[in-house]
Amino acid sequence: MQTQRIYNGPYYRYDLPLLQRTIDASLEASKKYGCKLFYALKANNESQIINQIRQSEIGVDCVSAGEIEHALNEGWSASEIVFAGSGKTIREIEYALAQDIGMIHCESAAEYGIICELSEKLDTNTQVALRINPDLKVETHEKISTGEKHHKFGMAFSEALQIIEQNSNIVGFHLHVGSQILDMQYFEDLSLTVRSLIAQLPEDFSLEYLNLGGGLGIDYTNPQRNLIPDFDGWMSALRTHLPSNIIELISLEPGRSIVGQCGQLIGEVQYIKHEDSNPTAILDIGMTELLRPALYGARHKITVNKDDLISQKYTVSGPTCESSDTFGNNHELPPLERGDLLIIHSAGAYGSSMRLNYNLRNVIPSQFITETVSTYLKQKVA
Ligand code: LLP
Repeated sequence: MQTQRIYNGPYYRYDLPLLQRTIDASLEASKKYGCKLFYALKANNESQIINQIRQSEIGVDCVSAGEIEHALNEGWSASEIVFAGSGKTIREIEYALAQDIGMIHCESAAEYGIICELSEKLDTNTQVALRINPDLKVETHEKISTGEKHHKFGMAFSEALQIIEQNSNIVGFHLHVGSQILDMQYFEDLSLTVRSLIAQLPEDFSLEYLNLGGGLGIDYTNPQRNLIPDFDGWMSALRTHLPSNIIELISLEPGRSIVGQCGQLIGEVQYIKHEDSNPTAILDIGMTELLRPALYGARHKITVNKDDLISQKYTVSGPTCESSDTFGNNHELPPLERGDLLIIHSAGAYGSSMRLNYNLRNVIPSQFITETVSTYLKQKVA
């Protein structure tokens, strides 16, 4: 049975009650474990989404002057902003200092020199934490793993120690090992590493800040089964090996885990090709609206707005002039025809924020659902 529909082109659809439930779950865990949260703005920067996050008194993690400006315009106060990034320009650092943001995560000795020089020039006193590369391997997609020695992020702990020995204004550390991590063992490993680093700090160093990044994964295979990520497991794992006086200092930067499941991408089947050999559905959405599959080979669950007992395996592809513009093969779907609407699930994080201008395709709108989640989950595409 195909539902009646009005379709004016593809769109992102966000379930705001689900977003709120997710935010509430993250806050409940953060209160239980005493962690301060900073939402990673890179995951999704749509006003309606981030307003809900800001109103829940979560701070914000920015990685460019553009993001800092956006966060300020959206109502975050400067003191609730932390600023990271391996390639901050002088202008960006200057902008951040002039705004008097809460914390700069400094990634190298050279950057530290620039921060000090500009702080003096502008007569500001923004707090600085050093981003440490913990040299930890985690099991996630190699392109979203960040904490190994060869990655461009952060500095070796030995470099950080040299900075600390010569300067007194460092308040603590920032570490982030990667993204889409589902095995809590990796967060326990991070906890162990941090314990050993802290043990090597000079005795007179007063640790006031410890940001352990983001990285908690979501269930892309079966989103409905795990709509709310395991915030409790994550925060509990990170504390495993840390002494109690350090646990109190933990800050975190969740991105995907907050917004991933509340967003979907809706598109329409335009053509079916290779019906006999490799049925391929070509949609009016693709890598320009959701880059993750083309860029990382990421797999998103796809469903269709019609019920049918028979299913068939489809390759589902986008419309742009790239062979890699595909959501992958072997998607089990009922027999598709032109005009069917497909739902690409778990598109709330790194979807709209990574959209491309390629082929000069139109920017697609977002629709925000405000009724309760249970109604929404039953609902088909309008
Ligand atoms: N903190 C730092 C320093 C980060 O680099 C990141 C993500 C986060 C926090 C937030 O991580 P999350 O909680 O979202 O895992 N575009 C990729 C993900 C790139 C993540 C970059 N850094 C994707 O679509 O999978």
